[in-house]
Parts: sequence; structure tokens; C-alpha cells
Amino acid sequence: MDTELSKALYSLQGRADLSLEELLDLAARFVPRVAAGQARYKVTEVPSERTVRYYTTSGLIDRPLGLSGTRAVYGYRHLLQILVVKSLQARDLPLRKIRGMTADRPDDYLEAILGRTESDRWESVNLGPGVELRIRGGDLPPGRKEKVVEAAEGAVARIVGARAPSAGDNPGSPSAPGARPGQYERRDNTMSSVETRSMLRGQRIRNKALKEKITFATDAAELIKSGYRVGMSGFTGSGYPKLVPQALAEHILREHSKGGTFRIVVMTGASTSSELDGALAMVDGIELRMPYNSDPIAREKINFGKMEYFDFHLGTVAQYVRSGFFGDLDVAIIEVTGITEDGKLIPSTSVGNNQVFIDCAREVILEVNNYHPLDLEGMHDVYEPQAPPNTAPIPILKPSDRVGTPYLACPPEKIKAIVETNHPDRTTVFKEPDAASKAISGHILDFFAHEVRKGRLPKNLLPLQSGVGNVANAVLYGLLDSEYEDLTVYTEVIQDGMLALIDAGKITFASATALSVSPSMVEKFKSNIGFYKDKIILRPQSISNHVGVIKRLGVVAMNGCVEFDLYGNVNSTHVNGTRIINGIGGSGDFARNSYISIFTTPSVAGRDGSISCVVPMVSHVDHCEHDVDVVVTEQGLADLRGTSPKQRAVQVIEKCVHPDYRPMLKEYYFRALNHSPGKHTPHLLEEAFAWHLRYQRTGSMKG
Ligand code: COA
Repeated sequence: MDTELSKALYSLQGRADLSLEELLDLAARFVPRVAAGQARYKVTEVPSERTVRYYTTSGLIDRPLGLSGTRAVYGYRHLLQILVVKSLQARDLPLRKIRGMTADRPDDYLEAILGRTESDRWESVNLGPGVELRIRGGDLPPGRKEKVVEAAEGAVARIVGARAPSAGDNPGSPSAPGARPGQYERRDNTMSSVETRSMLRGQRIRNKALKEKITFATDAAELIKSGYRVGMSGFTGSGYPKLVPQALAEHILREHSKGGTFRIVVMTGASTSSELDGALAMVDGIELRMPYNSDPIAREKINFGKMEYFDFHLGTVAQYVRSGFFGDLDVAIIEVTGITEDGKLIPSTSVGNNQVFIDCAREVILEVNNYHPLDLEGMHDVYEPQAPPNTAPIPILKPSDRVGTPYLACPPEKIKAIVETNHPDRTTVFKEPDAASKAISGHILDFFAHEVRKGRLPKNLLPLQSGVGNVANAVLYGLLDSEYEDLTVYTEVIQDGMLALIDAGKITFASATALSVSPSMVEKFKSNIGFYKDKIILRPQSISNHVGVIKRLGVVAMNGCVEFDLYGNVNSTHVNGTRIINGIGGSGDFARNSYISIFTTPSVAGRDGSISCVVPMVSHVDHCEHDVDVVVTEQGLADLRGTSPKQRAVQVIEKCVHPDYRPMLKEYYFRALNHSPGKHTPHLLEEAFAWHLRYQRTGSMKG
């Protein structure tokens, strides 16, 4: 953020007395700065009274603070919210996405989006040689700042008079708990003072020697240097480190503002959240990201070519890391729930690649998150397969089988810093299932009933895998009202729908690598953990996505996709062949090796159904026709098993395409049948991407 804007915002912090006119005035002054360089009128447009009303009813900004007479009163936060909306709109994010990213976020998070960092918010007062007082803007009532400075000066004069700091003193070393005499406490920029006081007690660190390693996020972040390869915990918004990545982002921002370059390679289990991917991407701190991202800011950087992204099968990441394809791992930053007396690490809400990162990294930083229930202890099963030729069979014959230990292991000397946190995961809030998702779910249930009748599935089906996203979640909810009992799950992520099925007694056991449920479900999970504990196992992703285990168990895989084509090739990742949405995730691990591989999508996407999700030829292939058994849209389900390409095409056209596009696809197919040089998989190559090109040119695939 430019210094002038930063200073102006600083001076407005704490204001809670703005009239609508004043708010609009300030917004008019600052919007051009945060949405600079954007030609789009809607973004640069100065907000009006109508805009503010619209933003308020849409939940993009808070309601007014109150009334003064008949006039609404606004504050600093309202201004911040307007600027953030405009700034994100300028990055081409739709309002719905912006609401998801900003709703209920604290001021400092919103300031970070504008590029105003935590360090901008602190005012420094020099109290003498080597001593600095920092005051957070807006937190003190008017007139108190001077009193605080005065008192601090007096205190420093007394202390320094008794013992002046020597060159050997390290003002940045950990000072809590029980700071050693002579050490100077440095406040952690990433936490409020209340959190600092209440949390840094180390209750979750039962090992005495490791307790000594408690430090602040800012200090831990300083262990990471530009160019480092960093493996971090985290899988679909759960179990990722909450503070060190943010402190690192601030550090990177400071380096960039001094004209330097600071970028790192970031590896995780899968997607994380705005506190990790978002924070680091926002400051251009990521050189290469792998293996799965769903953060909107990181996505923009990737699609603008400012960040490299290596997207691949989640079950194979550990093998690649161990083989050294990404070079040597410098640091692992791993969130845990606690540390036992003998130094074993209790994993948190995801296991992901944590053990392999710990094994391969030179140094380890731990975040002990006090928010997660300690009763998670025992829910995990950590086992990492050996590399060939020493790979042993993994004796998982049913989802509830255990093969490893409940803990992560790390040599204590590798652990360089431990940071305590108390922050919830930021998991996805799912959309209410809409008519299309419900129809898709209905088709899948009819298909299951048919397979049971045919004797190809047992009455309680086979272990289910369900992908990420709204449709996948809706399909699970569909099972709630079904006749199926005693279901089991062997999947990557336990999301809301699965917990609901466990609650209803429909699912008796679920194995996954992450527990990624929405905030309301988290509370329920925490208060009933005893009930869930013997029904859930969390494993490393090399096991949850292990091709051999998936094959042996006969998993029924259900994954969402972006589009599929006449012959059943599936694109799970790219819009129009070039813009990535998220990544392949585990869909490939499951699709290729499952007993039945099902892909789902609404038949159309975009405004007014301007995109057909069933196309002549997919613009990017993640899953080829040989790995896809069944495709489903709300229009119907096509069972492609045992069919030739031309038989597939007829089914896809009849069962899955939206009526708006059915005549077009039929017409394409019959012309291809006549004019294609090869008649095995008929195509007109000069036209195969005509729908995508039309969408690119006109904003609609419709002819
Ligand atoms: N062209 C352009 N955009 C499309 C599209 C298409 N053919 N199909 C979907 N989209 C857009 C939607 O419009 C929506 O955009 P919005 O969020 O801006 O509204 C977005 O993609 C998500 O679509 P939605 O219909 O809400 O589906 P979803 O939440 O079920 O997610 C995927 C669908 C494909 C994005 C998601 O399943 C995914 O990332 N899959 C790949 C990884 C995976 O399968 N992991 C699981 C393995 S265990």
C-alpha cells in the first residue's frame, strides 16, 4: 500500500462517528488508489449511497454502527470494507467470492488485503538506546498514548539505570513463559497482546525440553530465508499453520518494500486458506506452489503467470518429495494439537504430507494449536510406505483398519521453534444444495439401487469416496434420506455431508486424511468428539489416496469436474483449457483405481447457462475416457462401462447435455460421424474447440 494511504488509514483507525456523506467522501478519495489502473468503470466508480446500501444488504459491509438522530453512523471498518471490495473487484473477483473471503474477518486481515501490514499499524516510540515502545494505532482511547509513553519512559529509566542492555542481549529471543531476567520481551506482531498473555503457557507441550523452544511467530518466520523450500501442513483448509506463514508474509513484504526479492517454494498437503496461501501470494512471496491450491488470490497469480504451480496426484506427493524432485526441503512448518511427554507429536485436523515433510526437512517449526480439542489424540494413524524395493503391502482390508501409530515423529534436535496458537481452521462454507445438485444426487442413488439389484454392489454399497466442492457435498446429503445403512467411507476429506451421515448412523466408519468441516459443524464436532472418535481415522495422504488400498477396498469414487466430452474424457481443473480453478487433487488417484469412477457436474455453468459442461472435446484432460465409468449431470446419468466411443457419445448426448445444447452436440456428432477421417472416435478437429472459442470471443458457448 502506498505510504500516504497507509498514513491516512492510520489516522482514521478507531473512528466510529462518520456520517454517510463523510464515509462516501473518504471512499471517493481512496478508491482510485486501491483500484488503480483498472479500466473497468464498475470498479473505479466512486461508491454512492446506493452502492453502500447494496453492499450492506449483500453482507459485503457491516450494518451501520447506530443512529445519530435519524442519520446512520459509520466507522473506520466500513471504509476498510468498501476499499477491500473495490480492491478485490479490481482483481476480477466476483462479489460473491469477495463476500466469502472477507465476511467476519478482523480489521487487520482486511488491511492486509489492501497491502497494509500489521507492522504499519504499530507506531514506534524510541525510549532510549536499544529500547523501543510500540503502540498499536486506534487501540488506546484519545489522550492515553501520551500517558503510556510517559509511564514507559519512567520505567525504562529505572530499569536501564539498573542494568543497561549490553551488546550480547538479544531483544528478539523468547520471553514467555517465565522470561529470564535481563531479557527483553518482544511482542509478536501477529497476535494481540491478550492472546500472547493467555496462550503462551505451553500446557499442550508436555515435553519439558521442547517447552524451551516456544517462541513467537515473527522469530520463527525469520528462520526462513529467500529461496527456501518449505513444506507446510494443511489439507483443504484444515490443519495448516496459522501464524508463521502470516508473519513470514509480513517479513517478505518488508523485504520487498526495501527493494529486495524474497520468494519461497511452498509445498503442502493440499489447499490451505487465506492465512497461508492467500497471505503469501498477496505479497508475491511464492515462487512455486504445489500440489493443490484453491485460494483465489494465489489462483489469480498463477493464472496471470506470476506464480509457478505444479499440480499433481495427491497420493504421489510424498514419493516425489522423498525422491528429491523438488530439491532438498529446508524447513517444515507443521501444525499439531499437542506434544506428549516423550516428544511425540499429536497431529491436528489433517495429516497430509506432514510426516514426509518432517522426515525430509533440515529444520522443523511446530505450531501447537490450542483451539483443536486435545481429544484428537488417538484419532490418527500415521504410516509411511517405504520406497521400492522395500515397499511392503499395506494391510488395510477395511476403512477402520489401523496400520501405523497415532503420532508424528520428529527428532527433537530438528525442532527449531514452537509457536503456540489458538485459531480455528478456515474451512469452506458450502452452498445450500440447489436443484441441480439434488437432481445429480438422485441420479446417483438410482444408479446405486440398480447396481445393488444387479448384484454388483452389496446392500451397504462399497467404501465411498467423495470429492471436494458443493456438488460432492450435496450428493452426500442425498444419502441421508436413502435406504442405505452401515455405509463406510475411504476418502480424502471428511466434509459436512459425511459428519451428517455419521450423526444419522448411516456411516459407521470414515477414513480420510483431513477433517474439513464448516465452522458450525466444527463446534458440534468439538463438543461430541467422544462420539466421533471411534468412527473416524485420519491418515497420511499417501495412504488415504493409496492406489493399492483404493483398488483392494473397491472404492466407489464420486468427483466433481469442470466439463466432460462426448467420449467421457474429463477436465477437472481448467476453464477453457488454460485458466486453472483448483487442481486435480486426489481425483486421479481415485478415478483410475476405484471400483466405479463417477464424475458429476451441473450440465451448464456461467451466467444464464452460457457454458455447456458437456462439450465436443474437453479443453484439458485430467481423466481420460479409460478412467471414467459414469458421468452425471442434473439431466441424467450415462453409464459408460463396457461401451465403445460411439455408444458413449449417444448416451452422453441423450442423458447428460442440457436441452439448450443438445441439438448442437447432436449436430456436431453426426457431422463428425460423416466427415471424420477415422470412424472410431469421430471428431472434426477444426471444430472440436469451436464452443470454447465462441465463449472466449462472445462470453457464451451458445451458437
Ligand atoms: N467452465 C467455466 N467455469 C466452470 C465450469 C465450466 N465448464 N464448470 C464449473 N465452473 C465454475 C463454476 O461456475 C463455479 O464458479 P464460481 O465459484 O465463480 O461460481 C466453480 O467453477 C465451481 O463450480 P461448482 O458448480 O460450484 O462446483 P463445485 O464446487 O462442486 O466444484 C470443481 C467443481 C471441479 C471446481 C471441484 O470439484 C474441483 O476442484 N475438482 C478437482 C479436484 C478434485 O476432484 N478433488 C477431489 C479429489 S478427492
